[in-house]
Amino acid sequence: MSTLNNLVAYFCTTLAILILMGHFPCISSAKTSQRCTYIIHMDKTLMPTVFTSHHHWYTSIVDSLTSTSTPAASFNDPKSMLPSSPKVLYSYDKALHGFSALRSFRDDGLPPVPSKWKGACESGQEFKTSMCNKKLIGARFFNKSIKAADPKVKLNMNSARDIEGHGTHTASTAAGTFVDGVAFFGYAPGTARGVAPRARVAVYKAVWEYGVHSSDVLAAFDQAISDGVDVISISLGFDGLPLYEDPVAIGSVAAMEHGVLLSSSAGNAGPFLGTLHNGIPWALTVAAGTIDRQFSGILSLGNGHTILGWSLFPANALAGPHEIIICTDMGTTLDQMSTIMGLKVAAAIFISDDPIDNNLLGGAPFPGIIINSKEGRSVVKYAKTTKRPWASMRFQQTSVGSRTAPAAAVYTSRGPSPSYSGILKPDLMASGSQILAAFVPLTGAATIGNNIILSSEYALLSGTSMACPHASGVAALLKAAHPTWSPTAIKSAMMTTANPLDNTGNPIKDDGEATKPASPLAMGSGQVDPNRALDPGLVYDATPQDFVNLLCSMNITKSQMLTITKSSKYHCLNTSPDFNYPSFIALYDNKTKTRVKTFQRTVTNVGPGGVATATYKARPP
Ligand SMILES: *[C@@H]1O[C@H](CO)[C@@H](O)[C@H](O)[C@H]1NC(C)=O
Ligand SMILES: *[C@@H]1O[C@H](CO)[C@@H](O)[C@H](O)[C@H]1NC(C)=O
Ligand SMILES: *[C@@H]1O[C@H](CO)[C@@H](O)[C@H](O)[C@H]1NC(C)=O
Repeated sequence: MSTLNNLVAYFCTTLAILILMGHFPCISSAKTSQRCTYIIHMDKTLMPTVFTSHHHWYTSIVDSLTSTSTPAASFNDPKSMLPSSPKVLYSYDKALHGFSALRSFRDDGLPPVPSKWKGACESGQEFKTSMCNKKLIGARFFNKSIKAADPKVKLNMNSARDIEGHGTHTASTAAGTFVDGVAFFGYAPGTARGVAPRARVAVYKAVWEYGVHSSDVLAAFDQAISDGVDVISISLGFDGLPLYEDPVAIGSVAAMEHGVLLSSSAGNAGPFLGTLHNGIPWALTVAAGTIDRQFSGILSLGNGHTILGWSLFPANALAGPHEIIICTDMGTTLDQMSTIMGLKVAAAIFISDDPIDNNLLGGAPFPGIIINSKEGRSVVKYAKTTKRPWASMRFQQTSVGSRTAPAAAVYTSRGPSPSYSGILKPDLMASGSQILAAFVPLTGAATIGNNIILSSEYALLSGTSMACPHASGVAALLKAAHPTWSPTAIKSAMMTTANPLDNTGNPIKDDGEATKPASPLAMGSGQVDPNRALDPGLVYDATPQDFVNLLCSMNITKSQMLTITKSSKYHCLNTSPDFNYPSFIALYDNKTKTRVKTFQRTVTNVGPGGVATATYKARPP
């Protein structure tokens, strides 16, 4: 038994040499020689000039990986992670495979585009008008401000085409059609679909790799509204701006006036209070929650003991015999992993009892499994007391329903809203952690080692960016079911029927607060529930003038007010901050002795069958 104790890893100690044995397809080992397909994407700008094409370059790299042999595998050494004879399937050079994700945006069975639609599919770089269909009915891009800021700029992908994956992921989460046989490197296999699979999609690209300009975002809002959209989903926000300078706040006023709901992400600056953006009274602000799905690896010890742990390693195991390192310290798994990255070991076992941390982890770039401390003790004991300990790892395991969920994600930004604290924000929570949705296959979706980047047409992403389109999809369903409801009524229906309980029937917990119950500043009214939102009974409605009255109660100047309303037709008719909102917040400083606040609300009956009168009784929760 040899150890790596001299490598001073501040968390990790190698306790044993285990033999890693592969039993599964796509495992390279001394004995097997299977061919596996890997799609490899590398930074094209780094291509040495000796290569005539990217394909040539990729192929040479793969060849070099398979022709050399190193005694011990290392995480930095891609060869150790590759099957014995990998092949480059695609190299994304020019023809960008024409939106592979259009598989989520097929228009099978959809009726013709509604006549009220005034949008367009603008052609541009690698995007033709004919790429739109009855599902993807609009595609526009907004690049004027980028040019204004830097007249010499040359835009990469000057069209509505997504080169980053974020837009494709969020759009397919809101409204992707059914796609069978989807997975992320073996994890989360099944049929993918958006929340509103029969809704149409129009995309407006206003964010460029050179940055995002308020005026491009505003132009996109204006265009979307005049094109006739019903819901705007924006997984983007501006931090630290007052309402009258925030393009999302300004753009969404016109949306509200035109009956369009703006659904936006709260931000990923949690778990600290007062960090959220898009805390806009006339928009829906969506927090992110976890889901009940777990991705795992199975660790099998030579003594027959099997352990299910957390993993997202994007392949099945490589071969041994090599060393597996066991990390016994209880630092964060991320810290343990970064320590390991520099060591020459084949695989790792991390010991951690922090389910939150483990849930947050993306795919580890090397074969690794996170196990709890109880299991950890038995593994360490086995490794220390056995003459020739060995183990094998099996990845790509998915279980659903095995976790308490939802919980407010640790990263989800918290209220109160810095731009206006008088309305409780966020409004509600939707699924945001480890969401599988369509992606652009020219962007890395997972990594193996330091320089193999795997691409995928479906990717697992986490953030309020992923939560927002879930809520947007629900809003689209409600708009279809209740075409006459105002955006404020739709928002109210979603908020008042949101579920404050998790799948164990207990109050939703907060992963950012040591799993204490989540406060409304983390999750708003609770987890959005599409079915209950269809029939809320009563709604807290409001008109654009009501929002103006709210603005009038804020300490802003006339001209600041005008930048928001963009119309002198509005006047202050009432200056009460007690707005007819479907939630309540009262703020006190420590000096306030009497903490009593009276709220006034008006509800509108939207019960089934247009019943004119109904009786509701208020009761404490
Ligand atoms: C913006 O798009 C238009 C239309 O395709 C194009 O003519 C213009 O050059 C683009 N601007 C920049 C900075 O690339
Ligand atoms: C109102 O705004 C002015 C100018 O920004 C500021 O000086 C003043 O303290 C504010 N008053 C309140 C009550 O917030
Ligand atoms: C208010 O009181 C709480 C609890 O006593 C304390 O933690 C907090 O710092 C105080 N806040 C301010 C603004 O003084």
